[in-house]
Amino acid sequence: MTLSRTFQRIAPIVAALLALSCVSGARFSPGSSGVGDPLYPGLGNGGYEVSHYTVSLDVDVDRNFISGSTGIQANAKKGLSSFNLDLRGLTITAISVNGLPATYTRDGNELTIVPSRPVPARASFQVDVAYEGQPSPDHVPSFGFPVGWIKYRTGIYAAGEPWGSSTWYPVNEHPSDKASYTLVLTVPEPYEVAGIGELTGVIDNGDSTTYTWEARDELASYLVGVAISRFDEIVVEGPQGVPILNMIQETIEEPVERHLENTSKMVGFFNDTFGPYPFESFGSIILDAPFAALETQTRPIYGFDILRLAGERVVAHELAHQWFGNLVTPATWEDMWLNEGFATYAEWLWLDYKSPNDEFAAFWENTWRPDYGPPGKPSPEAPFGQTVYQRGAMTLHALRTDIGDDAFFRTLREYVLRHAGGNVSTSDFVAVAEEVSGKNLDGLFRAWLYDDVTPSAPE
Ligand code: TRP
Ligand code: ZN
Repeated sequence: MTLSRTFQRIAPIVAALLALSCVSGARFSPGSSGVGDPLYPGLGNGGYEVSHYTVSLDVDVDRNFISGSTGIQANAKKGLSSFNLDLRGLTITAISVNGLPATYTRDGNELTIVPSRPVPARASFQVDVAYEGQPSPDHVPSFGFPVGWIKYRTGIYAAGEPWGSSTWYPVNEHPSDKASYTLVLTVPEPYEVAGIGELTGVIDNGDSTTYTWEARDELASYLVGVAISRFDEIVVEGPQGVPILNMIQETIEEPVERHLENTSKMVGFFNDTFGPYPFESFGSIILDAPFAALETQTRPIYGFDILRLAGERVVAHELAHQWFGNLVTPATWEDMWLNEGFATYAEWLWLDYKSPNDEFAAFWENTWRPDYGPPGKPSPEAPFGQTVYQRGAMTLHALRTDIGDDAFFRTLREYVLRHAGGNVSTSDFVAVAEEVSGKNLDGLFRAWLYDDVTPSAPE
């Protein structure tokens, strides 16, 4: 049979297959409504990746009412007939995709957008969502503070971990999708806006002021932070020219300097220990609000009470997160011991560096307990439980005891270097530790991260 005869015979089949694939939407299909996170499967969305968010809001502070828009630049991972964003509450007034009006539906926290023209695979596209409303904070199981956009007595703050950012802007709310941000907030006189990254604009509109904060280094959505109040500023030059900008709410009367005076030294110590400080600046936002502390990228937010109680130990914790969690970000919430265990261990490292007198033995004594549960498998009912912090930190100390100081600190630096800007899982860390130490560490990590009972102290 000649080739052309063969073709004639199969041509109708090919045509039918092609038609079928178009009709069935193989070229364009909906993006999924969750990324299948093992702890929280509904978070985030599939089918695209965001590169930049521009959140522009007018804030009526007294009524706690926001209105404005969020512009999202994204890249399609496949042809999209529709796609989802995460948004909690608020009222949408208009949505466009690539400048053309789009239709949408809402179901709980899922916003499904149907563009008037489907988005081709690998295309970059622009989504603009106009909205308004009074944000409602959300709650995380067994966690003592609300998350999201929150009004308190003397201001407003927004703190996202793990799913609070969707209370004030539409977002692909999962740590696996990192993006850069422009935050443009207009607030009435006499309020000011503290944010992450760099303050690139302050426009006086008469009875209101527009603040633009640019976060150019990519970040996970749970690391976005802003606060609206009035602030005193303390600017310090950090090591290697890293500017340190501390924004302290004016109503705090007690001095905060003593908790911050070692920040520059701390950045220096962690530079030497983990690798160069990874972002354009550092600092803090300190609020007169009932709040814990969150490692918002470049500028952690603290409630003054925790700073007063925990002192520079909590500053060390949030600073260490800039490497562990922010620069190198867990791909799923199940691996968040890679954040909290490391940041907690960094507190120990800092205290030991400040006054070397066998701090580790004492920490170990005070911390060891048989019943933390496995830090590598935190419960969705208590994601920020003690196990990821304490047993997570003990896991690192057990590793250090096993492979020795030299291999341990080389492991930390190599892990940071190799995964800078990206997402990781526990196996990525284990791989680096095994490579650097030349040892099989399966047993050690299995026992420390996944056994129900806490292993006993390493010899
Ligand atoms: N990651 C925070 C820490 O440094 C804890 C935390 C999780 C948090 N979610 C939060 C703090 C929300 C404030 C608000 O350990
Ligand atoms: Zn932490």
